[in-house]
Amino acid sequence: MAGGEVGTDDVWARWLLTDRHAGDEAYRAAIEDEVSRYTERVLDAAELRPGMTLLDLGAGDGSLALRALERLGGEAEVVLTDVSAPLLAHAKARLVAAGRGPRCRFHRLAADRLGGIDSASVDAVTSRAVLAYVGPRAAAFAEAFRVLRPGGRLSIAEPVFRDEAELALALAARVAAGGGAQDPLLPLIARWKAAQFPATAEGIAATPITNFGERDLLYLAQAAGFTDLHLAFCIDVGRARPVSWASYIGTSPHPLAPSLAMIMARDFSAGERALLEAALRPAVEAGGLPQTDRIAYLNGRRPTA
Ligand SMILES: C[S@@+](CC[C@H](N)C(=O)[O-])C[C@H]1O[C@@H](n2cnc3c(N)ncnc32)[C@H](O)[C@@H]1O
Repeated sequence: MAGGEVGTDDVWARWLLTDRHAGDEAYRAAIEDEVSRYTERVLDAAELRPGMTLLDLGAGDGSLALRALERLGGEAEVVLTDVSAPLLAHAKARLVAAGRGPRCRFHRLAADRLGGIDSASVDAVTSRAVLAYVGPRAAAFAEAFRVLRPGGRLSIAEPVFRDEAELALALAARVAAGGGAQDPLLPLIARWKAAQFPATAEGIAATPITNFGERDLLYLAQAAGFTDLHLAFCIDVGRARPVSWASYIGTSPHPLAPSLAMIMARDFSAGERALLEAALRPAVEAGGLPQTDRIAYLNGRRPTA
């Protein structure tokens, strides 16, 4: 990846630049290919036009900013904000290396507190896979509204993880009801999922990544004042590509989740590790395990009057 790697204890940078692909280059390329489709869709709904100023919230490694400038032939200003200093540094190095540095500004800001950005100063606010991690989500929508010029566009794409947590909850209930007696894998899978997603109703409600659904994003945008809103919730059920066992267990589904390798090392006995590996590894390496993505795309406009 351009821009240089960061050795970091920053959870966001570590996940985006390393843990998302477990250091597996082929896996990284496949993920980036997938992510670029979400990015294009977010940019399509942002109504790009030469001369505009676009603000990307939670800009991460700078991919969306880079692509926006590519699509506009450099005829735009892009403001990148993020809470992660290492990611902002990485994005800056990448954009400078691509010759896009003069067109970019970088601010270390949380999405719900955009104090360094003037009101009514940008033409589009974009964000991809960020608001899912923001606790004060209503404040983030209010800030996006504030910084947009009247008529400006909001375009976001967010993963919706609630179903994963519901699955973890259901697995915990089956184990509690004695399901492990018929299927010794069940308690292991339940512990694995519960380590990555909250597995209680209280935990789901209290955790930012699981306490919202796609419609909540729409209602939050509406409450912030946005109009001409369009929500599309896409559930794609496919088959996972073949991947090495090391890469499979080395990745985690989101930046705040431990990898399966970490969970096994920390919570499983040697016998449990062997049981899970024997059951899963052949299917992981052959490819074809079911894989479901749930992405909410939302766009709207700050009214002109
Ligand atoms: C899953 S990554 C997505 C990065 C990028 N938007 C992309 O599409 O690749 C989540 C990003 O959100 C940032 N982030 C986390 N909490 C945030 C907050 N409260 N405000 C702004 N950004 C935040 C992280 O630093 C990270 O860059």
